Amino acid sequence: MPDGVAPVEAARAGAAAAGRPRHVAIIMDGNGRWASARRLPRAAGHRAGVKAVRRTIEAAITSGVEWLTLYAFSSENWGRPAEEVADLTALLKHYLRHETAELHREGVRLRIIGDRDRFGPDITAEAARAERLTGANTRLNLVVALSYGARAEILAAARRLAAEAAAGGVDPASLGEAEFAARLTTADMPDPDLLIRTSGERRLSNFLLWQSAYAELLFVDTLWPDFGTAEFEAALAEFGRRERRFGGRPG
Ligand code: FPP
Repeated sequence: MPDGVAPVEAARAGAAAAGRPRHVAIIMDGNGRWASARRLPRAAGHRAGVKAVRRTIEAAITSGVEWLTLYAFSSENWGRPAEEVADLTALLKHYLRHETAELHREGVRLRIIGDRDRFGPDITAEAARAERLTGANTRLNLVVALSYGARAEILAAARRLAAEAAAGGVDPASLGEAEFAARLTTADMPDPDLLIRTSGERRLSNFLLWQSAYAELLFVDTLWPDFGTAEFEAALAEFGRRERRFGGRPG
């Protein structure tokens, strides 16, 4: 058990009492614009984005958030120029290889969702090693979405259920939302309470479409490399001001 785990329990209890989100999901956008504004290559924006990832993980731990899901690479991002895809792949490999030990020391459990194998055997191996090493940690669940697309995820779950039904394993009439959700890659995760997108864009871009049905959406103008503790805490404060009804009437 890593050092410094105890205070997180108090933070978590306080978070629940203060209307804090249990699960925060983030579409990290604006690395390219951040770099262009400084006449730097896009890769420099992505490298600055990794620093924002570190700050955000720290802020999530400090504030008692239990789950943090980061959209690092979408299934559509494969359409970017080969050089940028190679830069991002190298950055992700470096992160998994060199930052897992620190995540482990911090008590972070890392999990990857999406089609990790498309990045090649190095990332597949690094991801498996990182998930194994950190698998028993409980301070923060960090989920990194890599080559992830929500429609593909939903389609895969539908295919799985159809195959099970065809084999006689499930009765279609008895299927409910829980049975469907159990076939998604996020099966044992809580749904996001708060979904943040940076850089002023107001789209979900194929991210956690099923899981975000009742998430509070927050679009902020900050470019991802400029995101940090203050922005994360401001987002939590905004969440605390929202009235969540889950489709029901006001209380
Ligand atoms: C979107 O900005 C960002 C990405 C496609 C990559 C996100 C990756 C990181 C922040 C670094 C790696 C992540 C981890 C978890 C180690 P953009 O390039 O689309 O920016 P733009 O819209 O301004 O062009």
